[in-house]
Amino acid sequence: MVAVRVEQLCTDPELYIIRVDDDRIKYFEATWEIPEGITYNSYLMKLDGAVVLFDASKGEYTDIFLDALRKIVDPKEITHIIVHHTEPDHSGALPKLLEENGHRAQIIGTQFARNLLQGFYGDEVVKNFKVVKDGEELSIGGKTFRFITVPWLHWPDTMITYVVEDRLIFSCDAGGGYGIPEAIDDSDEKVVEEYLPHVTKYIVTVIGHYHKYIVQNIKKLKGLGIVEEAKMILPGHGLAWCKNPKRIFEFYEAVGAGVPEKDKVLVIYDSMYGFVEKRMEIVLDELKKLGKKPVVYRFTDKEAPAVSDILGEVPSAEALVIGASTYEAEIHPRVRYTLYEILDKANYEKPVLIVGAFGWGGVAGKKIETLISRSKFDLVDTVESRGRPTEEDERRLREAVRKLVAWAS
Ligand SMILES: Cc1cc2nc3c(=O)[nH]c(=O)nc-3n(C[C@H](O)[C@H](O)[C@H](O)COP(=O)(O)O)c2cc1C
Ligand SMILES: [Fe+2]
Ligand SMILES: [Fe+2]
Repeated sequence: MVAVRVEQLCTDPELYIIRVDDDRIKYFEATWEIPEGITYNSYLMKLDGAVVLFDASKGEYTDIFLDALRKIVDPKEITHIIVHHTEPDHSGALPKLLEENGHRAQIIGTQFARNLLQGFYGDEVVKNFKVVKDGEELSIGGKTFRFITVPWLHWPDTMITYVVEDRLIFSCDAGGGYGIPEAIDDSDEKVVEEYLPHVTKYIVTVIGHYHKYIVQNIKKLKGLGIVEEAKMILPGHGLAWCKNPKRIFEFYEAVGAGVPEKDKVLVIYDSMYGFVEKRMEIVLDELKKLGKKPVVYRFTDKEAPAVSDILGEVPSAEALVIGASTYEAEIHPRVRYTLYEILDKANYEKPVLIVGAFGWGGVAGKKIETLISRSKFDLVDTVESRGRPTEEDERRLREAVRKLVAWAS
């Protein structure tokens, strides 16, 4: 049974989080392996003459979400529902919630959000919908609610809400991460440290395709002065940021920009019978001699790491080494898929070295080169040859690694 946590975040204003801890999910968006699970966060604020709900929950968990909500409010009393983003991990519970609410609540969101909700759930759900524009303010329960659009974080519908008097940012997916942290907020540094790698993985897999918009949108919010002065940043997944709110947006900015960790080199390869691996042993030896810290993911007949984990490693790498065998005149299928996703979700200006092994005609290296040449990555060198590496191959590999390291520094 999936657990729901309900906790009061502050008394003035009276604010609650309703957090569904989904430890049953295996593949977020039917793709991304997340053994760490995910939470869907909804927030409820009780004001003078108004009860405002910020986002709902995933459709599958509607009943337990509503049970939890009923502990703090009669759903009929909800006067406003702010929909920051309509992806069904936040909107799925809306139709039933609105039914129970008797459609009294006004729904607030962008025009895109209205169109998407209508497409997902029908006309009934949007009959009391208030479209807001970027920067628009509404006075609700004696407070000023400012709506700021952050398009492509990660859908066209996306916006955040800033409650001006209380300096609260409700940010839905922006600022979110995978994982089910044991704490509700960021007050325990140990919890935060464990959680942040799941945030990177979330950013790359979910928002990565649009990562330039992360940087743009956070710049926009910073420009408005609200990040600096925010008392809380309250995302739709993972930890609520109450102690050091701007930290999460700064973290997002760094991941969005692909800021590297010193000396980290990401090494990804397949090896069916050990020939690519022999080359990689040489590569790793040279990298270590040069003081680099390789992080290795390999596909063999005994292991197949999660592609979502590999994606999460890309933004902080200084450089990449991609090794592949030729397989039926193609790049080995595992590396092909991994590379395809890296180029789509984690396309950064970083140097790449390609290493290949083949039997009767090498094409993997050439095909990777072509893919890389169409991306933001910089091709440093390709070292590809037949079967086991010769002494000449070893010399070329070591030289190529030195070139890669020089490029990265
Ligand atoms: C299923 C399969 C398909 C292969 N297809 C090709 C191919 O199309 N062209 C080629 O030159 N070698 C091909 N090879 C040979 C491998 O690329 C070669 O043995 C390489 O050294 C394998 O390195 P590894 O053992 O590290 O995976 C194939 C091997 C296997 C097992
Ligand atoms: Fe989303
Ligand atoms: Fe989400």
